[in-house]
Amino acid sequence: MPIPADLREKIDNLMAGTGLNAVRDAAEAVSTRYRREGSFAKEGANLQIRDGAEALAYVGTRLPATYGAAEHVLGRLPDDFTPRTMLDVGAGPGTVALAALDHFDSLRQVTLIEPNAHLRGIGASLVPNGNWINGDLVGVEMPGKDFDLVTAGYVLNELNARARAAVIDKLWAACSGTLVIIEPGTPEGSAVVQGVRDHLLEKGAYIAAPCPQMGTCPLHDAGKRWCHFSQRVERSKLHRSLKGGALGYEDEKFSYIAFSRMPVALPQGRVLGHVAGAKVMQVEMCDDQGDFGTAQIAKSDPRYKEIKHLDWGDAVDFSL
Ligand SMILES: C[S@@+](CC[C@H](N)C(=O)[O-])C[C@H]1O[C@@H](n2cnc3c(N)ncnc32)[C@H](O)[C@@H]1O
Repeated sequence: MPIPADLREKIDNLMAGTGLNAVRDAAEAVSTRYRREGSFAKEGANLQIRDGAEALAYVGTRLPATYGAAEHVLGRLPDDFTPRTMLDVGAGPGTVALAALDHFDSLRQVTLIEPNAHLRGIGASLVPNGNWINGDLVGVEMPGKDFDLVTAGYVLNELNARARAAVIDKLWAACSGTLVIIEPGTPEGSAVVQGVRDHLLEKGAYIAAPCPQMGTCPLHDAGKRWCHFSQRVERSKLHRSLKGGALGYEDEKFSYIAFSRMPVALPQGRVLGHVAGAKVMQVEMCDDQGDFGTAQIAKSDPRYKEIKHLDWGDAVDFSL
């Protein structure tokens, strides 16, 4: 999946203004810091973007992948969901809002909360009609309580556990339609999503995606296996030159969950890995009975034709 051409052009222009070498050095500095401090909020860790070049490095190296994840997730929301208003928090350069503006023709008004001035500055040029708010999620008052769509992309993992619980309540209170949480597709990111799932189901929220049921998740505390998805994203020349490596794509792994204020018709199953096989297709999936396992679909099976075109993250209309 490539990012839209007009967005890529805007990013290329931003890079040209600063110079590729400065952005490459900044990308290296950010990545060293993340390796040293860990991407999960530890007490005292400081993962902040520190200047304009580092913010551009984020845009050049991470935005295409987080955009791809957001596009994947928004594409799994119910077809009849047509939000007019959106709140994107921990918006960074506006990645999730950009994907939503591309995905939903219905979207008229976008509000974004981002405390980092360097990211907000770039974001304001990428989403110029957005209402950009400088605020920390822990302290900021939500700018409304009836946003059709509320999104938090790759941000909850940057909060400590105490702050996270309070922020989830705030986000849900600001949402009159659908709340989307996206996190890294790591065991830790998936655990954050599981925590949000448990918390908001208790508050009466309905799941909109990806789960086929609202009972206990079969991958809750499953040890070596955790719920996550994968989106292949194209690497532009700029992206390759900032990140190194020759491959023309990368596979972004992410975990996510979407909640609705209204009950949503859920699929019977969700594909949880790449569909593999030839004569017999192997489909790793979870289902509406709360089970997780691998369905074996032989060529003679009427589902075989459909399965061949499905991939990780797609809904299926059968159980294990
Ligand atoms: C990994 S970036 C994700 C940016 C964007 N949502 C995306 O998906 O590309 C995490 C963002 O969360 C923001 N953030 C971290 N802690 C925050 C807090 N306490 N309140 C608001 N935003 C926060 C950071 O400034 C950063 O922009």
